[in-house]
Amino acid sequence: MSHKVMSGKARIFLGAVLGLVACTFAGASFGAVDAVAAKKLARKESCLRCHAVDKKKEGPSYQSVAYKYKGQSDALDKLVAHIETGEKVKLSDGHMEDHKIVKTKDAEQIKNLISWILAQ
Ligand code: HEC
Repeated sequence: MSHKVMSGKARIFLGAVLGLVACTFAGASFGAVDAVAAKKLARKESCLRCHAVDKKKEGPSYQSVAYKYKGQSDALDKLVAHIETGEKVKLSDGHMEDHKIVKTKDAEQIKNLISWILAQ
Protein backbone atom coordinates (compact mmCIF):
# COMPACT_ATOMS: atom_id res chain seq x y z
CA MET A 1 0.00 0.00 0.00
CA SER A 2 1.37 3.40 -0.92
CA HIS A 3 1.29 6.35 1.37
CA LYS A 4 -1.17 8.12 -0.90
CA VAL A 5 -3.82 5.45 -0.40
CA MET A 6 -3.24 5.44 3.32
CA SER A 7 -3.75 9.16 3.66
CA GLY A 8 -6.88 8.97 1.53
CA LYS A 9 -8.29 6.36 3.87
CA ALA A 10 -7.25 8.44 6.84
CA ARG A 11 -9.16 11.38 5.42
CA ILE A 12 -12.28 9.28 4.96
CA PHE A 13 -11.91 7.96 8.48
CA LEU A 14 -11.53 11.48 9.85
CA GLY A 15 -14.58 12.59 7.88
CA ALA A 16 -16.63 9.75 9.33
CA VAL A 17 -15.56 10.61 12.85
CA LEU A 18 -16.41 14.27 12.37
CA GLY A 19 -19.77 13.34 10.87
CA LEU A 20 -20.55 11.16 13.84
CA VAL A 21 -19.61 13.90 16.27
CA ALA A 22 -21.82 16.37 14.38
CA CYS A 23 -24.78 13.95 14.49
CA THR A 24 -24.31 13.38 18.19
CA PHE A 25 -24.37 17.10 18.85
CA ALA A 26 -27.41 17.66 16.65
CA GLY A 27 -29.21 14.83 18.45
CA ALA A 28 -28.30 16.22 21.82
CA SER A 29 -29.56 19.71 21.06
CA PHE A 30 -32.81 18.34 19.61
CA GLY A 31 -33.51 16.27 22.67
CA ALA A 32 -32.28 18.83 25.17
CA VAL A 33 -35.54 19.54 26.92
CA ASP A 34 -35.17 20.84 30.43
CA ALA A 35 -38.02 18.89 32.01
CA VAL A 36 -37.49 20.38 35.45
CA ALA A 37 -37.74 23.93 34.14
CA ALA A 38 -40.73 23.01 31.97
CA LYS A 39 -42.68 21.52 34.87
CA LYS A 40 -41.80 24.45 37.08
CA LEU A 41 -43.11 26.90 34.48
CA ALA A 42 -46.24 24.80 33.89
CA ARG A 43 -46.96 24.90 37.61
CA LYS A 44 -46.24 28.60 37.89
CA GLU A 45 -48.44 29.41 34.89
CA SER A 46 -51.17 27.14 36.30
CA CYS A 47 -51.20 24.98 33.16
CA LEU A 48 -51.39 21.97 35.46
CA ARG A 49 -54.69 23.14 36.85
CA CYS A 50 -56.27 22.09 33.56
CA HIS A 51 -53.67 19.69 32.16
CA ALA A 52 -51.93 16.59 33.43
CA VAL A 53 -49.28 14.59 31.63
CA ASP A 54 -51.20 11.32 31.51
CA LYS A 55 -54.85 12.06 32.18
CA LYS A 56 -57.52 14.34 30.85
CA LYS A 57 -58.57 17.16 33.12
CA GLU A 58 -60.26 20.31 31.88
CA GLY A 59 -57.82 20.20 28.97
CA PRO A 60 -56.29 17.23 27.11
CA SER A 61 -53.43 15.28 28.70
CA TYR A 62 -50.03 16.30 27.41
CA GLN A 63 -49.53 12.74 26.22
CA SER A 64 -52.54 13.07 23.95
CA VAL A 65 -51.30 16.46 22.71
CA ALA A 66 -47.91 14.90 21.89
CA TYR A 67 -49.69 12.05 20.11
CA LYS A 68 -51.90 14.42 18.12
CA TYR A 69 -48.92 16.43 16.89
CA LYS A 70 -46.56 13.52 16.38
CA GLY A 71 -44.51 13.89 13.21
CA GLN A 72 -45.75 17.41 12.48
CA SER A 73 -42.76 19.60 11.85
CA ASP A 74 -44.65 22.80 12.67
CA ALA A 75 -46.05 21.48 15.96
CA LEU A 76 -43.70 23.58 18.06
CA ASP A 77 -44.60 26.84 16.29
CA LYS A 78 -48.30 26.01 16.32
CA LEU A 79 -48.43 25.26 20.02
CA VAL A 80 -46.25 28.22 20.96
CA ALA A 81 -48.80 30.35 19.10
CA HIS A 82 -51.60 28.48 20.89
CA ILE A 83 -50.39 29.55 24.32
CA GLU A 84 -49.21 33.00 23.28
CA THR A 85 -52.39 34.11 21.52
CA GLY A 86 -55.08 32.37 23.58
CA GLU A 87 -57.19 30.68 20.93
CA LYS A 88 -60.79 29.87 21.82
CA VAL A 89 -61.15 26.50 23.53
CA LYS A 90 -64.16 24.50 24.57
CA LEU A 91 -64.29 23.54 28.24
CA SER A 92 -65.85 20.34 29.56
CA ASP A 93 -69.11 22.07 30.46
CA GLY A 94 -69.39 23.15 26.84
CA HIS A 95 -68.71 26.86 27.21
CA MET A 96 -66.04 28.52 25.12
CA GLU A 97 -63.32 30.68 26.53
CA ASP A 98 -59.97 32.03 25.48
CA HIS A 99 -57.18 29.63 26.30
CA LYS A 100 -54.82 30.83 28.96
CA ILE A 101 -52.00 33.02 27.65
CA VAL A 102 -48.57 32.49 29.17
CA LYS A 103 -47.44 35.40 31.28
CA THR A 104 -43.75 34.96 30.64
CA LYS A 105 -42.30 36.69 27.59
CA ASP A 106 -39.25 34.46 27.66
CA ALA A 107 -39.35 32.74 24.26
CA GLU A 108 -36.76 30.14 25.25
CA GLN A 109 -38.79 29.12 28.30
CA ILE A 110 -41.99 28.91 26.27
CA LYS A 111 -40.25 26.80 23.62
CA ASN A 112 -38.84 24.55 26.31
CA LEU A 113 -42.29 24.08 27.83
CA ILE A 114 -43.86 23.15 24.48
CA SER A 115 -40.94 20.86 23.58
CA TRP A 116 -41.46 19.10 26.90
CA ILE A 117 -45.18 18.69 26.20
CA LEU A 118 -44.40 17.29 22.74
CA ALA A 119 -41.92 14.85 24.28
CA GLN A 120 -44.58 13.17 26.48
C1 HEC B 1 -58.65 26.95 32.22
C2 HEC B 1 -58.06 25.68 31.83
C3 HEC B 1 -56.74 25.68 31.07
C4 HEC B 1 -55.53 26.22 31.47
C5 HEC B 1 -55.21 27.01 32.73
C6 HEC B 1 -54.58 25.86 30.43
N1 HEC B 1 -55.19 25.12 29.44
FE1 HEC B 1 -54.30 24.33 27.81
N2 HEC B 1 -56.12 23.68 27.13
C7 HEC B 1 -57.31 23.78 27.82
C8 HEC B 1 -58.39 23.19 27.04
C9 HEC B 1 -59.86 23.08 27.44
C10 HEC B 1 -57.78 22.73 25.84
C11 HEC B 1 -58.47 22.00 24.69
C12 HEC B 1 -58.62 22.87 23.50
C13 HEC B 1 -59.48 22.21 22.46
O1 HEC B 1 -59.20 21.04 22.13
O2 HEC B 1 -60.40 22.86 21.98
C14 HEC B 1 -56.36 23.06 25.94
C15 HEC B 1 -55.43 22.75 24.98
C16 HEC B 1 -54.06 22.90 25.13
C17 HEC B 1 -53.06 22.40 24.21
C18 HEC B 1 -53.36 21.65 22.91
C19 HEC B 1 -53.73 22.57 21.80
C20 HEC B 1 -54.01 21.81 20.54
O3 HEC B 1 -53.94 22.45 19.48
O4 HEC B 1 -54.29 20.62 20.57
C21 HEC B 1 -51.84 22.74 24.72
C22 HEC B 1 -50.49 22.45 24.13
C23 HEC B 1 -52.09 23.44 25.95
N3 HEC B 1 -53.43 23.53 26.18
C24 HEC B 1 -51.08 23.92 26.75
C25 HEC B 1 -51.30 24.69 27.88
C26 HEC B 1 -50.25 25.36 28.61
C27 HEC B 1 -48.79 25.29 28.27
C28 HEC B 1 -50.85 26.02 29.64
C29 HEC B 1 -50.21 26.93 30.66
C30 HEC B 1 -49.57 28.10 30.11
C31 HEC B 1 -52.28 25.74 29.55
N4 HEC B 1 -52.50 24.93 28.47
C32 HEC B 1 -53.24 26.20 30.45
C33 HEC B 1 -57.49 24.33 29.07
C34 HEC B 1 -56.52 25.00 29.79
